[in-house]
Amino acid sequence: MNVDELDTPAVVCDLDKLGRNIRDMAARCRQIGIPLRSHTKSHKIPEIAHMQLASGAIGICCQKLGDAEVMVAAGIRDILVPYNVVGPIKVERLLRLARRAAMTVAVDSVDTAQGISEGARRLGGTVRVLIELDTGAHRCGVQSPQAALDLARKIVELPGIDFQGVMTYPSRADAKPFLDETVSLLRGDGIPVDVVSGGGTGHEAISKELGCTETRSGSYVWEGLSRVQNSGDLSDERCPLRIIVTVVSVPTENRIIVDGGIKTFTTFRTAPYGLCVEYPEIKMHAMSVEHGHVDVSGCSHRFRVGERLQWIPNHQEIALNMHDELVGYRGRQVEVVWPVAGRGKVK
Ligand SMILES: Cc1ncc(COP(=O)(O)O)c(C=O)c1O
Repeated sequence: MNVDELDTPAVVCDLDKLGRNIRDMAARCRQIGIPLRSHTKSHKIPEIAHMQLASGAIGICCQKLGDAEVMVAAGIRDILVPYNVVGPIKVERLLRLARRAAMTVAVDSVDTAQGISEGARRLGGTVRVLIELDTGAHRCGVQSPQAALDLARKIVELPGIDFQGVMTYPSRADAKPFLDETVSLLRGDGIPVDVVSGGGTGHEAISKELGCTETRSGSYVWEGLSRVQNSGDLSDERCPLRIIVTVVSVPTENRIIVDGGIKTFTTFRTAPYGLCVEYPEIKMHAMSVEHGHVDVSGCSHRFRVGERLQWIPNHQEIALNMHDELVGYRGRQVEVVWPVAGRGKVK
């Protein structure tokens, strides 16, 4: 089948471009000399995770346990969940995963660590743990090297926990004093620090400069070697993912309506919502839930009902997460249909 015969809206992916983005990132990390741990939140598709591992990634990341369950079921055996796993239901799920895979999680409080330790005592098993450091992103994370030391001293005493080191996100150059002081305080106290995990697409070299033992990148599968910051940066060449839509109405000379709106593209960032591959000058200036409103005043082409257009959404990861499957093609021929297996797995 040809991709141009698929019913719409269809989320499709140019497999050659996807493969190139995966290989390029693996090559960049090899060249820099930093091990890559691929973050699979960007696609939630086990087959793509296996491609990343085959290209040299040392393991994967999943932001949520639900994603990790999908990836372990697909045979992946080294997973970092850089997230506080809180509550007995989740701890039990984590320990079940830890029987089948090397599971590492991030914690930033003794409450989270104790919850995991108590679960491990009840159910058996061990979980690897990193302390999350807030080196400037102001999300989770302990606030100072001394706070990391205080927490590490408590964690290393807890049964069922294998303390491994520290993590931060994203890797920022100005995080070096925080990281250096933390590692030296912990080691000075006799606490081994085997893992220093940094991350963020485009931050690989900074991870290396920070002394990280691995770097977690994810969005590179869709965006190439550095983050796409706004719709002006989207390009047919670097972005393999696109959404094929059909023109369902031409209400005026200057406006067409396509069969995908907020539930197809998401409203990430402001208009224009993504880039039309065939006519980059036309702009999706607004969306209803199921309609895309496109301003075609800057284009000489006369659009007709039934025409198909390919769109690169502003945020490929979030848009893909709205759909059940991703169709992979090469030279316009459909080669594979991957279920987005981690979609909706937000628990
Ligand atoms: C903790 C963590 N690590 C790594 C990443 C991957 O970053 P990027 O999508 O820029 O590759 C993210 C992205 O949100 C993240 O939250």
